[in-house]
Amino acid sequence: MTDFVTLAEDIAREAGEMILAKRPTNPEVVQTKSSPTDVVTALDRASEELIRARIRQARPDDMILGEEGGDTPGSSGVRWVVDPIDGTVNFLYGLPEWAVSIAVEVDGEIVAGVVNVVPRGELFSASLGGGAVLHKDGLAVSRLRCNSGVPLGQALVATGFGYDAGRRGVQGSVVAAVLPAVRDIRRGGSCAIDLCSVAAGRVDAYYERGINYWDYAAAGLIAREAGARLGGLNGKGPNGELTLCAAPGLFEELHDLLAPLDPERDA
Ligand code: IPD
Repeated sequence: MTDFVTLAEDIAREAGEMILAKRPTNPEVVQTKSSPTDVVTALDRASEELIRARIRQARPDDMILGEEGGDTPGSSGVRWVVDPIDGTVNFLYGLPEWAVSIAVEVDGEIVAGVVNVVPRGELFSASLGGGAVLHKDGLAVSRLRCNSGVPLGQALVATGFGYDAGRRGVQGSVVAAVLPAVRDIRRGGSCAIDLCSVAAGRVDAYYERGINYWDYAAAGLIAREAGARLGGLNGKGPNGELTLCAAPGLFEELHDLLAPLDPERDA
């Protein structure tokens, strides 16, 4: 487990350094995906290529799932789940909220997760059962615990919005109902960082519809290892329909606020 965390940390650091070294003043969009605002830059691709090459060198028989390159098969029972830049729109605009995210699954269970928030010099990591740690400028500075005992009305809640206009309309009406019931809302622009923020107590809770597995695979483990509950609606696990994360107690309160709003719909 430790080996997986160390390897994932080394690779996420190397990818982060490469991105910082090569980031042009104005990165260009090289591709759009689900909508004209769902973008890919050359450095999303270069970061994923570097990460894939390093994984292949160290562990040639492992599977890899990456946001930009899809699925690579393997025979070892180990799968790496990679988001080469989570928060690509922030990256495009020169905002500092973007991260390299790498998770490792063994036989379908996530055992290691690393989120390198490159512009901040912060790297979050966790191993299954081994807790979650924040490293600052290469040094481990704190073991992470999420906030606990926060009632819904006092909760600072992070969320995000999808790239599809219809879905955003629904997400707007859902957040309009959430706002009067909580302390405030934050929209940072990176699901991975939002979940690490729950882990670090920088927000109390997070929910979002439409995220992908590579957005939350690593950071979901980090949040869970920091004591948070991660799941979907009505007892489901975390998933693209809706994922919520908060300390036990607040998780259930947020769940019960969201469920009647039918937040999994797109129209
Ligand atoms: C996006 C970010 C964003 C979330 C979107 C994701 P990307 O990932 O995590 O916060 O709201 O749903 O797609 O496109 O920057 O890798």
